[in-house]
Amino acid sequence: TKIFAYSIRKDEEPYLKEWAAAHPEVTVDYTADLLTPETAKQAAGADGVVVYQQLDYTPETLRALADEGITKMSLRNVGVDNIDMATAKELGFEITNVPVYSPNAIAEHAAIQTARILRQTKVLDRKIESGDLRWAPTIGREVRDQTIGVIGTGHIGQVYMQIMEGFGAKVIAYDVFHDPKLEEAGYYVDSLDDIYQQADVISLHVPALKNTIKMINDESIAKMKDDAVLVNVSRGALVDTDAVVRALDSGKLFGFVMDTYENEVGIFNADWRGKEFPDARLKDLIDRPNVLVTPHTAFYTTHAVRNMVVKAFDNNLALVNGETPDTPVKVG
Ligand code: COI
Repeated sequence: TKIFAYSIRKDEEPYLKEWAAAHPEVTVDYTADLLTPETAKQAAGADGVVVYQQLDYTPETLRALADEGITKMSLRNVGVDNIDMATAKELGFEITNVPVYSPNAIAEHAAIQTARILRQTKVLDRKIESGDLRWAPTIGREVRDQTIGVIGTGHIGQVYMQIMEGFGAKVIAYDVFHDPKLEEAGYYVDSLDDIYQQADVISLHVPALKNTIKMINDESIAKMKDDAVLVNVSRGALVDTDAVVRALDSGKLFGFVMDTYENEVGIFNADWRGKEFPDARLKDLIDRPNVLVTPHTAFYTTHAVRNMVVKAFDNNLALVNGETPDTPVKVG
């Protein structure tokens, strides 16, 4: 049995080697390259591939892999929005993802950044570095005084809710799927409008789907409370960034946490030092004192990365062996 892995980073190598050592019956080979129509050949002879990339899995890419006889593909991440599912279905692909590698990684990051916005730590850091050690006007808002509106109550949303409750905040939630535990405890409001109207902090924990893309726009922001805080550690596509910029300019939004950005592919996780920065709008957001930009690093912890590698290989081996993997993805 042979499994080939794409875009393996240095920080993933130890976990890949740990998995390979525990599975001596499997030949594991890998590359740092992304999976593209050109690199598909590298997997020749493998029974399955383990992948992670933000680059699209285009029809051409999937076809190139299928031409090598490989249709068992295991993602090391959660999101499947960059796979051409129609082609995957047509070619008979079997796909898995890792939906719960560490909800805490992402939820913790969202919680930390929420608290930082409320306490204006970026403003304070800048003041202190410049030699200004005065208090005013940089006064904080306590988390316990906020109503936190959580959109999406999957694994990540739920951990975020627990952490914010730990701070003493009031938490309300919206989701099209109701978790019975949360339902019973009375967290759910009836509509997104209820969240927009009642929440001081709105945190997004939903996938990018037809009906969630650009859900945060001029119209939804207009419904929010003045001085609301928006937190997006899910998918850049959920937010109309221009609308958020307008709301920051007008003072409607108190702050914005962004770990994901609609045009992030090719910009995040790259070194722009000494080069021309490719996105003026993003540069402007990075420079703002009330915007916390991180380059899609909410997930990036040792705990998460290990689970992403190990669980993806476990899934792929199950596919290759004709067994039912733990976390199959619906193809189509
Ligand atoms: C995902 O798991 O879908 C993520 O967003 C993290 C990815 C950038 C590795």
